[in-house]
Amino acid sequence: MKTFKISIPLIILSFTSFTSFTSFTSFAQTTTDGTHVGGACEGCEAVFEFGTARLNSSCTLPDYNQQGPKMEVSGTIFQRDGKTPADGVILYIYHTDQTGEYPATGDEKGWGKRHGYLRGWIKTDRSGKYAFYTLKPAPYPGREAPAHIHATVKEPLLNAYWIDEYLFEDDPLLTPKERSLQKKRGGNGIATTTKSNGMLLLKRDIILGLNIPDYPAGNKK
Ligand SMILES: [Fe+2]
Repeated sequence: MKTFKISIPLIILSFTSFTSFTSFTSFAQTTTDGTHVGGACEGCEAVFEFGTARLNSSCTLPDYNQQGPKMEVSGTIFQRDGKTPADGVILYIYHTDQTGEYPATGDEKGWGKRHGYLRGWIKTDRSGKYAFYTLKPAPYPGREAPAHIHATVKEPLLNAYWIDEYLFEDDPLLTPKERSLQKKRGGNGIATTTKSNGMLLLKRDIILGLNIPDYPAGNKK
């Protein structure tokens, strides 16, 4: 019976054009054995809102050619053992613009209405490596929280779950209290940037399942 449960969503994923998210939403929020990992995750369904795009291991966000600090974010997504590269994982990221807002054009659909258009999707290959190109986001206008990039991962046979935001080690808003609030889901999200040829470089590896509630023991490769 387990094989049957797995095969139906895979067939749906293979033969539809991703125009209807309803099927994927239910698949996203439940594992094949009916359990749910990672706790509540408002907006995790956005991990499927890439339309008909063919995902690969890197992407460029729409702000990249606008004014602001250009940044390359890269790393490797590993299985729970922290060593084995994870294949076929979708990483969804979104962030604020240079004014600290989640900008929208007005015709966004789904979670794009909340997340804005500065978002992107990556799917790892066998190397587990990922990269995205964007501008370093600004903190919210009220400066009550450090600048950050939200991130969600979707493993092939588990529901989508959020991981720690990308945060910047040198951000003056990253107070000891803010640091203490980090759960280290997927590993530490606080990163130091370096600069090369006018581009900020941020490295972050992600370990699937690390500090994720109800993560199945069988995935600890
Ligand atoms: Fe945010």
